[in-house]
Amino acid sequence: MISPEIQTASYLFAGILFILSLGGLSSQESAKRGVLYGIVGMAIAILSTVLGEGVEGQAYIIAAIAIASVIGILVARKVEMTSMPQLVAILHSFVGLAAVLVGFGSYLDPHTQALEGTEHTIHLVEVFIGIFIGGITFTGSIIAWGKLEGKIRSKPLVYPGRHLVNILLVIGCIVLCVFFIKAAGTSGLIHLYIMTAISFFIGVMLVMAIGGADMPVVVSMLNSYSGWAAAAAGFMLGNDLLIITGALVGSSGAILSIIMCEAMNRSFWSVIFGGFGAGPTGPAKEVTGEVTAILHDAVADLLKEAKSVVIVPGYGMAVAKAQFPVHQMVEKLKADGKEVRFGIHPVAGRLPGHMNVLLAEANVPYDIVMEMEEINDDLSETDVVLVIGANDIVNPGAQDDPNSPIYGMPVIEVWEAKNVIVMKRSMATGYAGVQNPLFFKENTSMLYGDAKDSVDKINGFL
Ligand code: TAP
Repeated sequence: MISPEIQTASYLFAGILFILSLGGLSSQESAKRGVLYGIVGMAIAILSTVLGEGVEGQAYIIAAIAIASVIGILVARKVEMTSMPQLVAILHSFVGLAAVLVGFGSYLDPHTQALEGTEHTIHLVEVFIGIFIGGITFTGSIIAWGKLEGKIRSKPLVYPGRHLVNILLVIGCIVLCVFFIKAAGTSGLIHLYIMTAISFFIGVMLVMAIGGADMPVVVSMLNSYSGWAAAAAGFMLGNDLLIITGALVGSSGAILSIIMCEAMNRSFWSVIFGGFGAGPTGPAKEVTGEVTAILHDAVADLLKEAKSVVIVPGYGMAVAKAQFPVHQMVEKLKADGKEVRFGIHPVAGRLPGHMNVLLAEANVPYDIVMEMEEINDDLSETDVVLVIGANDIVNPGAQDDPNSPIYGMPVIEVWEAKNVIVMKRSMATGYAGVQNPLFFKENTSMLYGDAKDSVDKINGFL
């Protein structure tokens, strides 16, 4: 058992470690240290809570933590890097569900039932808001998981008047909250049940209305919601550290969502409210031109002749685990005196920073990894662009087809280069499900096959 003073000091220390952790995660060089701070902070937080005054049944809690830790380690070890967003989404749903359960538990707790006056009213409002945010996070995250996993179609599900329905439901919940606060004893449970059902429904409809290409923003937005749900749970439980941690997650998730919306030229509010605003109004522009295929030796010849090469990786590089042979190829080309750089789109792959993580894993030096804005102006001076398993992020339709679902999203303008080689297995569409006119351009050649296999074969000819 530890005294309340030691617990407060531990909470403060853990809170500082969480802030240092977020700071560390802002750059690749310090990311590992950031994660370590987070782990130590969380260990201190859990220990000082479990050993705190008024907590009973520690043996059960520690047994539950041990079982959950084993499950967590097994799942995290097994999950492929490409399935990480799904794992994150489902973990967010747990936070949402936890907030809902804490809300009901806290409402029924005899200690809080005994509260009086303003204190009681404030507690009831906390319970109500906590369950509401938790409910939206819970079902919204499950739908996000289903969309990312491909179990639910990624096309937005919209029906006329849905914004009005959502607004009416929120107003209905505010009215319910008033009755809930006035209800005597535990008779407010019925209001909580109705509001929980409404919040579950809103969570489903908000995420169902969001289309494939906007999913990255949804994942970071649900991350933010899960933080606010945790902060609400912190208020209900009177736990300061949970409030701090929840607020850190909530605000950093919101900042990330805004950054991603800016990167994708989407309005933050339109994504928050489930695809508010005008969508495509007509059929997509017809794609013209012919597709040219190329073989590995010809790609190697082009690379040997090139002075400057830019590599644009996407989700397919992650699936194929091609980052290791790609690094070998880069080393060979650099040894021949060529300028080789990477161009990274902010939503390439399936999670923020996905490509950076893969390239770091293969020990590609950071100084040749450029962001989209840094590389776009140089592409017209580039001899060869290798597009490795990318599709949506290099789709010119985002710039010149107002009826494309990804219209307005900034893309890497690879078609400006002298030669573009696209490595993928077929003519299949990418995540957003739209045809890519890049494949039909005169300076583009398709190298079909698994990306790792293709790069290995090119390396053999270099
Ligand atoms: P995508 O548009 O998904 O295209 C990936 C391409 O890789 C596919 O067209 C596929 O074509 C190819 N591919 C798959 N496996 C391959 C393999 N083994 N070898 C070679 N190619 C392979 O990827 P992108 O260009 O990276 O764009 C990302 C998309 O995901 C965007 O729409 C983005 O909004 C969305 N998204 C991003 C995130 C984050 S945070 N980054 C999260 C959720 C969704 P084949 O089948 O023909 O091979």
